[in-house]
Amino acid sequence: MISRATFVLFTVFCLFSFPSLKAELIWEKEVAELEASHETRILILRFPFSNTGTDPVLITEIKTSCGCIEPMTPELPWTIVPGVTEELEVKVNIRGKKGAFQQTLEVLTFDKTTELGIKVEIEDPVHRTMTPEERNGNLAQSKADRRAIFKGNCIECHVKPTHKKYGMTLYESACGICHASEQRASVVPDLTEKIKNESKEYWREWITKGKEDGLMPGFAASEGGPLSGSQISTLVNHIARLKREQANEK
Ligand code: HEC
Ligand code: HEC
Repeated sequence: MISRATFVLFTVFCLFSFPSLKAELIWEKEVAELEASHETRILILRFPFSNTGTDPVLITEIKTSCGCIEPMTPELPWTIVPGVTEELEVKVNIRGKKGAFQQTLEVLTFDKTTELGIKVEIEDPVHRTMTPEERNGNLAQSKADRRAIFKGNCIECHVKPTHKKYGMTLYESACGICHASEQRASVVPDLTEKIKNESKEYWREWITKGKEDGLMPGFAASEGGPLSGSQISTLVNHIARLKREQANEK
């Protein structure tokens, strides 16, 4: 015997699932994956889909995970008639982005939310793979002249990315390039403990002057480096903030 409770559940199930049987959007792909050059500013992606049911479906809203994504739909609600293939066109602004770029958008219909993914691998010329010969050659040049990183074709990766940068992004481009690299040479120290313990004066001194007879050049303009006084100040403040954050986490 079917119990009364089972019967009620079955009825409720039928009532709620029935509309989606008559109208359903099928997406040809739910994730768009591609590669892009670092000079690309705008990408246009397309998500083809169709309504495989017998009733029209209304797309009522599209939510995006960042302001960098702009769905280019007709005015909402967008009516998708049965048996027709449509394309959701999305404009993605990747200007200034590098490496793995991932975002999502949610397409809402009256009874369903479909999550679509965007995965772009953006070429990063500063962190491209270098051959061991190239890296050893660079290291040798720095050993001969610690200011070598500010000259010739070293500028592309060690100087240009620091232009007009301040604070955290300056730290990443000027310092992290060597100190935060997973594959850095053994002569490049890990700064984690120093960040926990050292003062602003310590940082200002190292950034300004580097190490005489060492590999690290001074970054201040007065030392032939690329950084202005105000850039150095924001760098020191950023490191001091990292120190405070770490102290608070304890
Ligand atoms: C080209 C690679 C390179 C870059 C870029 C670089 N450093 Fe260094 N840094 C070194 C090396 C190598 C040493 C080890 C000392 C030496 O031989 O010069 C060092 C040492 C240091 C030390 C001393 C750490 C210790 O354990 O004694 C500090 C502090 C430091 N760097 C901070 C910075 C900061 C801040 C920046 C960004 C402005 C920076 N470095 C950029 C290569 C680099
Ligand atoms: C394509 C970008 C690029 C160019 C060009 C480049 N570097 Fe680097 N450099 C890096 C990166 C990235 C690192 C961090 C280590 C790594 O990931 O290979 C690094 C690290 C270093 C280090 C620390 C030692 C090490 O290998 O970890 C020194 C010293 C250095 N570079 C000097 C130079 C000199 C001198 C030149 C020019 C002759 C130069 N670099 C050109 C990207 C570059």
